[in-house]
Amino acid sequence: MNYLKISAKIRICNYEELLSEEKVLVDQAKEATFRAYAPYSKFNVGAAALLANGKVITGNNQENIAFPSGLCAERTTLFYAHSQYPGEAIPALAVAAYTEGDFLDRPISPCGACRQVILETEMRSGRPVKIILYGKKEIYVIESIKDLLPLAFDSMD
Ligand code: THU
Repeated sequence: MNYLKISAKIRICNYEELLSEEKVLVDQAKEATFRAYAPYSKFNVGAAALLANGKVITGNNQENIAFPSGLCAERTTLFYAHSQYPGEAIPALAVAAYTEGDFLDRPISPCGACRQVILETEMRSGRPVKIILYGKKEIYVIESIKDLLPLAFDSMD
């Protein structure tokens, strides 16, 4: 019997070890948590996308009383970035979560739907999106969504 083994490369580091542009993105993602609309989950998520033109676009989760109508921070941010700057690649995206009065110790990871949208962002520009997942105790840096979404449904299919 044959097996396909899948592995993911995730760099674990702390805030001081980030590059200065990565620190800026993390700071902005953290700040964006405070503008989230999350009255139902009380789980505020912020995201910050760096565009190839140097601009940083932030967003956060937007919930709705009809639960499925809400949207995660990652997709809010990416859709807004693409709607304003359709031709611009997005080289990096940072995500942070805040609940019960503090940021989480460990990073949260994008949901399946957000992973698929990040993949589309990579496919549109042909460039990887570096994903920086913030936690107070550790930060994950992932060089491409391909590490979080192996065997993806993409244009090759
Ligand atoms: N959420 C995000 O915005 N991003 C994630 O990566 C995970 C979850 C939101 C969705 C919902 O508003 C709240 O967090 C609780 O699941």
